[in-house]
Amino acid sequence: MSTAITEASDQAENTRASFIRSRLGSLLAIAPLGVWTFIHLWNNLAAWRFREDHGDAWQSAVTDHAHPVAHFVTAIIVLLPLALHTAWGVGRLLTMRPNNIQYGFYGNLKYLLQRLSALGVVLFLGAHIWLAMLKPWFLEGHAEHFSSLASQMRNHPPTLVVYLLGTLGVSYHLANGVGTWVMGWGLVSSKRALRKFEIVSLTLFVVLLGMSWGVIYALYMAGAQS
Ligand code: HEM
Repeated sequence: MSTAITEASDQAENTRASFIRSRLGSLLAIAPLGVWTFIHLWNNLAAWRFREDHGDAWQSAVTDHAHPVAHFVTAIIVLLPLALHTAWGVGRLLTMRPNNIQYGFYGNLKYLLQRLSALGVVLFLGAHIWLAMLKPWFLEGHAEHFSSLASQMRNHPPTLVVYLLGTLGVSYHLANGVGTWVMGWGLVSSKRALRKFEIVSLTLFVVLLGMSWGVIYALYMAGAQS
C-alpha cells in the first residue's frame, strides 16, 4: 500500500517537474531570447552608417559595453536561456512525429518548418557565437571588428550564404514561434483570433528577415571598402 502511495507521489512529482521544464523552455524563448534577438538585429542596423563612420556606430552598438562586467552579464542573460531553450527544443525534436505526407495541411507544414528551422538555428548559432563572439574574445583578445566581418561577408561566399540562410531560419523560427507561444499559453484560442494572429506572425517574419538581410547587405557593401 505504502509502495503504491510512494509511486503515485513520485509520478506526480515527475509530472510537475516536466510541466515546469516545459513552461520554462517556452517562456525563455520569448523573453529574453526573442526580445534580445530583435534588439540585436536592430543594433546591427547601425552597419548602414559605414559610409560616414567606417563602422564606428556598429562597433559601439553591437560590441562595446560600458563595463566588462556588463559585457559578461549580457552574455549570461542571453547564453543561459539559449542553452536551456535548446535543451528543451532538442527534447521536442526527439519526440516529433511529422505526418505531412498523410495530412498536407498548412498547420502540419508549420509544425515541420518550426522543427527544421530549429535544426538550422542550432547550427547557425553554434557557428555565429563561436566565430563572431568567442573566437575574437578568447583567441584574439578583442571583440569582433566591423572591418573583418564586412570583409568576410564580401569576400568569403560561404560566410554570406550561412548568414543569409541562418537568419532566414531564425526569422521563421521566432515569428512562427510567437504564434505557437500565444496559443500554448492560452492568450489566443478561438479559430478566428488564431487566423488573425497568423497575419501578426507573417508580418513579424517579414520584419525580422528584412532587418537581417538589410544588415547583411550593408556589411557586404562595406566589405568592398575594407
Ligand atoms: C535565437 C534563438 C531562438 C529563439 C528566439 C527561439 C524562439 C522560439 C519560440 C518563440 C518558440 C515557441 C515556443 C512555444 O511555442 O512555446 C520556439 C519553439 C521551439 N524551439 Fe526555439 N528559439 C531559438 C533557438 C532554438 C534552438 C537553438 C533550438 C534547437 C533545438 C530550438 C528548438 C525549438 C523547438 C523544437 C521548438 C518547438 C517546440 C514545440 O512547439 O513543441 N530553438 N523557439
